[in-house]
Amino acid sequence: MNGSPTHGRRPALAHTAVLALLLLSVAAFAATPPLGAPAPTPAAVPATTADAGARIAALRGEIARHNELYFRRSAPEITDSTFDSLRRELAALEADFPALAAAAPPEAAPPGDDRNGDFPTARHRAPMLGIEKVYTEAELRHWHRLLLARLGRRDAALVVEPKIDGLAISVTFEHGRLVRAVTRGSGTEGDEITANVRTIPTLPTTLRSAGAHSPPPALIELRGELYISPAEFARLNLEREAAGEPPFAHPRNLAAGTAKLHDPAEVAARHLALVFYGWGAWEPTATQPASQQKFLEQANAWGLPTIPVTRLARSADELWAAVGEVARQRDQLPFPADGAVAKLDSVPLRRSLGETEQAPRWTVAYKFPPDRASTRLRAISIQIGRTGVLTPVAELVPVPLAGASIARATLHNRDTIARLDLRVGDTVTLERAGGVVPHITGVDLARRPAESAPYVFPDKCPACSTAVAQGPGEALVRCPNPICPAQVRQRLDHYTGRHGVRIQDLGPATITMLVDRGLVRDIPDLYRLRRGDLLALPGFGPTSADALLDAIERSRHARLWRAINGLGLPRVGTATAKKLGRHFTRLEQLANATYGELIPVVGTATARALVAHLAEPGNRATLTALAAIRSQP
Ligand code: IVH
Repeated sequence: MNGSPTHGRRPALAHTAVLALLLLSVAAFAATPPLGAPAPTPAAVPATTADAGARIAALRGEIARHNELYFRRSAPEITDSTFDSLRRELAALEADFPALAAAAPPEAAPPGDDRNGDFPTARHRAPMLGIEKVYTEAELRHWHRLLLARLGRRDAALVVEPKIDGLAISVTFEHGRLVRAVTRGSGTEGDEITANVRTIPTLPTTLRSAGAHSPPPALIELRGELYISPAEFARLNLEREAAGEPPFAHPRNLAAGTAKLHDPAEVAARHLALVFYGWGAWEPTATQPASQQKFLEQANAWGLPTIPVTRLARSADELWAAVGEVARQRDQLPFPADGAVAKLDSVPLRRSLGETEQAPRWTVAYKFPPDRASTRLRAISIQIGRTGVLTPVAELVPVPLAGASIARATLHNRDTIARLDLRVGDTVTLERAGGVVPHITGVDLARRPAESAPYVFPDKCPACSTAVAQGPGEALVRCPNPICPAQVRQRLDHYTGRHGVRIQDLGPATITMLVDRGLVRDIPDLYRLRRGDLLALPGFGPTSADALLDAIERSRHARLWRAINGLGLPRVGTATAKKLGRHFTRLEQLANATYGELIPVVGTATARALVAHLAEPGNRATLTALAAIRSQP
């Protein structure tokens, strides 16, 4: 990895530098209350304008990439705090070099946008702004001081709520009837996902009315969070792993992925949930609640799910104590929480403060620090998936982190290693934020062994020595050999497993022997095995050989969706396999299905992927051979 400031990001260092600068700026605030003054900008790290320009360009590129991974692909590679530190470094540089900031095209650093182009767009009546975030007690107290100074008061009632880690949503009710549910999107307009949101059982479609005297408002945009409960998160990830799909890294991504499914029945099966904590437009305005507490009462009276735990704080000490209580309760909450949100209770006071372009001044989010640990990278191993993707995995000296012992962490792809300049023998920082999958976020360069060398990603498949391939602009590296033994093993595991045709007598050890001896190179080969083949394997006798042959024979008649799922077709998980299994009666119909025929069953994206997959002669041969085997009497 090169060390130039343009490309080489060294998160551990960058993070420390930003933190140090932040502390400095907090100290500066404490000395002179800067009422109404713009935030002081830390001294620029890059010394020259050219350095700053290069760093700004690099940061914008990084931020855009992580935005894409987070919002559109629901697969982040770095934690929120690392991401936020990149954004803060960029904001500080842009403030110091306004000419450079203005020179760049605005789309170079787009704001987070969850839209993926698959849903109709709808405009919010009132924009959905972001929220100012703080990471330390000092920053939170500073925010509080500034709030009181702006209000010109000695104290003010604040409501403190958990910060739910899900997908922001705006649900519009007109005259008490649910009409629309729209994601935050760009903040101005988002994806309309009403049908999916309607599957949430706790969300009434009509507001409970307290009698003719208080008819519901003509229009309200209720603001809240879609989420997946921690229990549901764990359950769905187990299912996903069993289906050979990568687990969701984060409950937020699971909520986002679920909210954007195209089949409301599938959404319902994943138990998406929702709570409300605020509002946007409210008409007539005269009926708006006067405080956050009144809002929560009113929303409850209407029968809406609202945030269950709130606390009141009048001073900075009470505020910090309330945040601490939310942190302690975190694991008992029915939703994933990644921080606490403090908001001014009084709505008239909120109005007097107004908002910046990005966020209202009356609220702040304190983000919980991620759980962090430091350990040594023993080795980098390469896993080969059933589609041939080479995934690097960090083999670590086991270290306790958030209640679990962590010995391995995914490194996602070749770029992740290069970006961190990760080397075997390095001391690394491991973070586990909110979700369940720990990530390596940095390297301690001071402790790097002198003899260490940059990691060289294999250019040959470690299992079959075929030269690896990487599509242009693609982060994933693949082994293109369809009979690569590692891939074949994974494919057989999947086909014979719990979510496939369930051949229980065929365990991984037997599969490995069959593949290593060249007896099985593809799924149909299973059905060509003879008694003699099995008897020649260590550990097999006549009884076990016959039992396995019987089990294989029975699997020819497994339900169609099981065979389809077992084939591990692109974009086909259990739910889609079941749909295909219902639509077709025989496997050869799927082999011959046209794009047009598949669309109504699986949607355009999956139909396209399936047609492309089946256009490959090898894939097609597997499917037709299996179809023939299944149709034998
Ligand atoms: S109030 C103008 N309250 O956090 C923003 N937001 O990262 C006022 N969030 O976009 C938001 N829990 O989606 C509020 N109790 C809570 C929240 C909450 C989660 C989300 C919200 C916002 C995001 C900012």
